Amino acid sequence: MGEGHISVLAREVCAALEGTLPEVGETPRGIYVDATCGAGGHIELVLKRFAPQRVIAFDRDQTALDRARVRLASAQTPILFVHAPFSALASTLDEQGVKADGILADIGVSSMQLDQGERGFSFRTDAPLDMRMDQSAPMTAAQLLEELDAPALIRILREYGEEPDAPRIARAILEAKPKTTGALAQVVSDAMSHRQRRKLGLRIHPATRTFQALRIHLNDELGELDQLLADGPKALAIGGRLEIITFHSLEDRRVKRAFRTLSSPPYTLPGLPIVESERQAPFKIPKPFSKGVTADAEETQNNPRARSARLRVLERVE
Ligand SMILES: C[S@@+](CC[C@H](N)C(=O)[O-])C[C@H]1O[C@@H](n2cnc3c(N)ncnc32)[C@H](O)[C@@H]1O
Repeated sequence: MGEGHISVLAREVCAALEGTLPEVGETPRGIYVDATCGAGGHIELVLKRFAPQRVIAFDRDQTALDRARVRLASAQTPILFVHAPFSALASTLDEQGVKADGILADIGVSSMQLDQGERGFSFRTDAPLDMRMDQSAPMTAAQLLEELDAPALIRILREYGEEPDAPRIARAILEAKPKTTGALAQVVSDAMSHRQRRKLGLRIHPATRTFQALRIHLNDELGELDQLLADGPKALAIGGRLEIITFHSLEDRRVKRAFRTLSSPPYTLPGLPIVESERQAPFKIPKPFSKGVTADAEETQNNPRARSARLRVLERVE
């Protein structure tokens, strides 16, 4: 990721931390948590600007953490690297006896994971069909396809890939049981209806949605996000901010809904006396981030991955 992965929405991520962490040169204070360390791109940028007392960095991918450790070796701030999914964030912070002043989750797959053909995330290289973000996880995508029946695979392709041709693609996959990324891409390509192919055009490979769906299911990406949405806000110190960057609407919808609910005043029955302090929501969405923030034209030109990125921010007020 030092090589190849460009950190998205870097300026906006730092802007959201203003006031929550001291600037470089001031006395270090506060805890910064990176829930998706990757090779440490965002951490490096944050440490150029701010002086937290400590950083806690999670990733379920050991290769990414190893790279981050090397990249951040000269950082003055102590960094605790945690090889765990971010669903372990609350328990880890509890063990450490700290609350977070800033939490960033830049979720999904990294360019490094996509570019390492042998990780099996991409159809650009033919490689074993792996797709595990955590290489120590017990099941690969090829093994998953051995276990699934047609209704389950159709549901996965529909829910996580929004694939209109889910039934015919699922049947073809289960018949062929592909073991490599290339074989899977070919099976999907052959099974897709002419109508859907025409709709995708030349820009999008027919297997894109299937790969996304299998990856999301295998790595329980939405379950992980739901856990972060449940635990992250409670793990914040007062005034602390939770920043989440998503890359597709399935994820963004969840973040938007959760942040709206958390920042809405509790419902009170009509006619009952209203105690103002009880009506205040314990979280707010800071003004400049009310609709979420997307990358500007310059960033999307330099980094096509940023095109679909959206940053949402939640602040703990009490
Ligand atoms: C987009 S990259 C992060 C890049 C990083 N922000 C940077 O600027 O270098 C996403 C990273 O999150 C990790 N990841 C995804 N889901 C995770 C989860 N539930 N728990 C921990 N890490 C996760 C992936 O392994 C990947 O390394």
